[in-house]
Amino acid sequence: MDGVKNPTMSVETATDRGNDLSVAVGTPKTFTTATLRHSERQGKVVKKAGTISGTGLNHGFVVFVPVPHLNLFSVSLCLHRKCLYDSGMSILNGKVGLIFGVANDRSYATFIAESVIKLGGRCAFTHLPGEKNERRTRKAVESLGITDAWMVPCDAGKDEDLDAVFAAYAKAHSRLDFVVHSIAFADREWLVPGKFNETPRASYLSAIDISAYTLAAMAKRAAPLMRDSGGGSILAMSYYGSEKVVPGYNVMGVAKAALECTARYLAAELGQANIRVNTISGGPLRTLASSAVGGIDTMLEHTPTRAPLRRNIEGKEVGGTAAWLISDLSSGVTGENIYVDCGVNIIGV
Ligand SMILES: NC(=O)c1ccc[n+]([C@@H]2O[C@H](COP(=O)([O-])OP(=O)(O)OC[C@H]3O[C@@H](n4cnc5c(N)ncnc54)[C@H](O)[C@@H]3O)[C@@H](O)[C@H]2O)c1
Repeated sequence: MDGVKNPTMSVETATDRGNDLSVAVGTPKTFTTATLRHSERQGKVVKKAGTISGTGLNHGFVVFVPVPHLNLFSVSLCLHRKCLYDSGMSILNGKVGLIFGVANDRSYATFIAESVIKLGGRCAFTHLPGEKNERRTRKAVESLGITDAWMVPCDAGKDEDLDAVFAAYAKAHSRLDFVVHSIAFADREWLVPGKFNETPRASYLSAIDISAYTLAAMAKRAAPLMRDSGGGSILAMSYYGSEKVVPGYNVMGVAKAALECTARYLAAELGQANIRVNTISGGPLRTLASSAVGGIDTMLEHTPTRAPLRRNIEGKEVGGTAAWLISDLSSGVTGENIYVDCGVNIIGV
């Protein structure tokens, strides 16, 4: 809690950076917020600026600290301050969007959500249908400090599920600024070095369906909502196996090539509506999905010996690039595939 005892003290301790600061006072269920400008906040008690109802933490940046003599909770700025001090800015303030692909706390999607939240954005989530899947996704989201996440089931292989997700999202939110596609699937039986040539038609098609077509299916449903919001950013996760042969990546490489190409065609068509579409080519990371890839150990061993940065990527580094792609800082970037892989893709031999 950083020893923060009351709002005045919180304000004083947060002046160092010279940023405007959002603070709140109230109970955990209903609290009032105010933005104090740098020039006026020194030593002052919080002003009221509207009430936010609901449970949960606001963007995960506020922490409630009891103030017994006032019989209320003040809001500690320790997380807020952490955000301000870590980044010096909140580049995603006001942005809200949908994240597909949080399976657990190691998912690339979880790291992306963490960065988005840290930088002031809000996230809604989907999980694979089923109570166990919901519990797993919810646990990962709660680990980010979000206790009241908007979350609905979705099998992206079903059009009716995607229709339902976007309809429900539109009902619950007034805008859609971003969509994160961080999902993939292929039968693990065919993700074995030397097995690509045996891939059955059905496995080949289902890999492309779930891992690539779904990006187009999501973009189609997101576009009208993003148009109403003045534009948006759609991003998907890819891997270098789309371009070069990585033993074991096999049909997933084919699906990633389709995904990257799908992103370019979408970018070309949706750009007029100020909707940007990009892919991130992430380095190997141990996750549920990557554990199905036969060559994952070799990929993880190879990168630290060959990559310019001489190490494997960390999930938060992909999270940071994703937040940048969602933010207006990347407003001129669309149709790109951005490598976040410690540079290993530039090495020939
Ligand atoms: N981990 C890596 O090494 C690595 C590297 C580069 C790119 N990627 C890509 O990152 C993305 C996220 O994967 P991850 O590594 O975080 O693993 P992960 O297992 O944490 O995430 C994969 C997600 O795909 C979802 N999914 C699978 N089938 C689905 C369906 N039919 N409908 C909806 N969701 C479905 C799963 O529920 C899960 O949340 C994938 O596109 C993956 O190919 C991963």
